[in-house]
Amino acid sequence: MIDLLIREARLIDAATSEFVDIHCDGGVIVKIQPTTSEAITARTVIEARGTLASPPYVEPHVHLDTALTAGEPRWNLSGTLWEGIACWAERKKSLTREDVTDRVSEVLRWYVANGVLHVRSHVDVTDPSFVALDALIELRDQMRDVIDLQLVAFPQEGIESFPNGRELLEEAARRGVDAIGAIPHFEDTREDGVRSIEYAVDVALRHGLLVDAHCDEIDDEQSRFIEVLATQALRSGLRDKVTASHTTAMGSYGPAYSYKLQRILLRSGINLVSNPLINLHLQGRFDGYPKRRGLTQVKEMLAAGVNVAFGHDDIMDPWYPLGTANPIQIALVGAHATQMTSPDEIVECYRMVTDRAAATLNVMDRYGIDEGKPANLLLLPALDTFDLVRRQVRPSHVISRGRIVATTPASTTTLQWPGREPEFVDGVRMKDAAGASWRGEVKSVS
Ligand code: FE2
Repeated sequence: MIDLLIREARLIDAATSEFVDIHCDGGVIVKIQPTTSEAITARTVIEARGTLASPPYVEPHVHLDTALTAGEPRWNLSGTLWEGIACWAERKKSLTREDVTDRVSEVLRWYVANGVLHVRSHVDVTDPSFVALDALIELRDQMRDVIDLQLVAFPQEGIESFPNGRELLEEAARRGVDAIGAIPHFEDTREDGVRSIEYAVDVALRHGLLVDAHCDEIDDEQSRFIEVLATQALRSGLRDKVTASHTTAMGSYGPAYSYKLQRILLRSGINLVSNPLINLHLQGRFDGYPKRRGLTQVKEMLAAGVNVAFGHDDIMDPWYPLGTANPIQIALVGAHATQMTSPDEIVECYRMVTDRAAATLNVMDRYGIDEGKPANLLLLPALDTFDLVRRQVRPSHVISRGRIVATTPASTTTLQWPGREPEFVDGVRMKDAAGASWRGEVKSVS
């Protein structure tokens, strides 16, 4: 007897709509085979009835330590990155371990409910008490059985421009982070910015860690730290273990420099993370009209062969007052912000919150619906990836390490239009709904 059998699922990236049975045991996918009538005994059976099976969502960029602090002690009324940093500098004086643990564990539960099983969080380490970092390291270990959490030592107020910035970054590495961050566009001078990247890469190399730098998060076409970070990625040999987050200045680079930049980005193997919700919200604040969109060159860099992922960035904090930790919302907003709305581009937007984000986190060895991989997957009652993004379909089941950790019943909105029989309405076109077995109820049988 196996632990879990998922019958009649459709693999989301399969070329055909063939139904498959997914066998999970001991937290691992042990077999995937075309659906048969053969009797298989399992402790839990899910009758998927054509529902899509997808690898879990991946959050490549969030700040868990600041989540759920919007308005404390005051609201960021200008809506700029800079006022956000000032608000947070005031709020972090009152951090306690319990405060951080309560907020972070709540948001991580939201993530799991939404189908996210890998999260990379930046943690502000320009705080000599390390209250937030220590709390997050403890939570990372406590929640390991459900969700993978990567922590980035993030020098929010600078490495070169903050008192003892270098020592704080080194100490964070010693305490046990997974990646080293930087914020070169915030440093006092361009030279400080360059030195901060070189130092961050040096710490990562000495401690065997990944790198994820906030890079060029500003509407300034003169901010070009991305070329420094990519060159460091190439020359250090870290390559795809390095990520440049935001790179919003790239939205203002002209064609000649953009073309030159593609070459070093490709050779370096570096990843980019765009954060559509927050970039749309924070950038362009100093513009009149025309007002810039505030995003990096997502479509162009994907076309050039660079790996790009979409992240949330902030959830109800000084930099963004909204957010529900739901990646399919990021994919939808990202599709609009980048004008990636052709059928193939909509699929790319889904990939940017799944496998492209997993590649950014360097977790592809344990990611995907394949025999031998951890049994982490979602069941999505949608026709296909396009339908999933368009209707913002929630996972009916979230499965982590072979266990069902979240369930969402199907939408039950009934339209009672005068003169018509009551009908079920969820945005599905009737011609699609007519023979679509995927709308069948998904049941769990213990
Ligand atoms: Fe960020």
